[in-house]
Amino acid sequence: MRRNIVAGNWKMNKNFSEADDLICAIQDELANVDVCDVDVIVCPPYPYLELVTDASEDSDFYVGAQNVAHFDDGAYTGEVSASMLSAMDVDYCIVGHSERRKYFHETNKDIAEKINRLIARDITPIMCVGESLEERENGNHFDVIRKQVEEGIFHLSAEDMQRCVIAYEPIWAIGTGKTASKEQAQEIHAFIRNLIVEKYSDDVAQEVSILYGGSCNPKNAKDLFSMQDIDGGLIGGASLKAEDFIQIVKSF
Ligand code: 13P
Repeated sequence: MRRNIVAGNWKMNKNFSEADDLICAIQDELANVDVCDVDVIVCPPYPYLELVTDASEDSDFYVGAQNVAHFDDGAYTGEVSASMLSAMDVDYCIVGHSERRKYFHETNKDIAEKINRLIARDITPIMCVGESLEERENGNHFDVIRKQVEEGIFHLSAEDMQRCVIAYEPIWAIGTGKTASKEQAQEIHAFIRNLIVEKYSDDVAQEVSILYGGSCNPKNAKDLFSMQDIDGGLIGGASLKAEDFIQIVKSF
């Protein structure tokens, strides 16, 4: 059965001592929260992964990376492989974030390769999809998302598909303070789940958590998470403050 998930994507923020303070504060806040019904994931930048995996050993959260190479290993300066992440006890990895699609020209094909490498190392991919404002205004958002899902992840077997998480992050809502309404988000989440039903089965679709991301905060999280197909959130800005992040965790 699909799990409720709240994942914090720190993006390229915090110096080392700030990251240390943040993870300690998250640990303190989490100590007072019942997390039976929700999986908490913290996704720091690569250099802080060890700090965060160490902290996770005596706390109730999982660790995610923000990216992975689409190659196995070799002469790819600056890249980090799935086997390296696995050796660091990373449980999840974000792939296909719109910022990577935009600034690093990642394609659906690259994303599919990354997902394969993560699955081979038992790391759960969190695959991001989402449309731009222009695509929504032109009424193309369903087609855009269908293509991202079909080309990025639908090559997987049913068994592997069930191990994945999908995050719907409308680009126009990321870092803008302009959240999708719960109805807008639910509509896309139901659309994605239905794509999984059509490609695989209802049973598979019921195993895949679909998260919402884009200006999700302590004020709007409860409303969003109350919707039938919204299984949690991928949180950017609000994950950089322990109190706000944990408040979102408590929204379930
Ligand atoms: P914000 O929560 O800052 O809008 O970012 C969302 C996001 O991109 C998470 O991956």
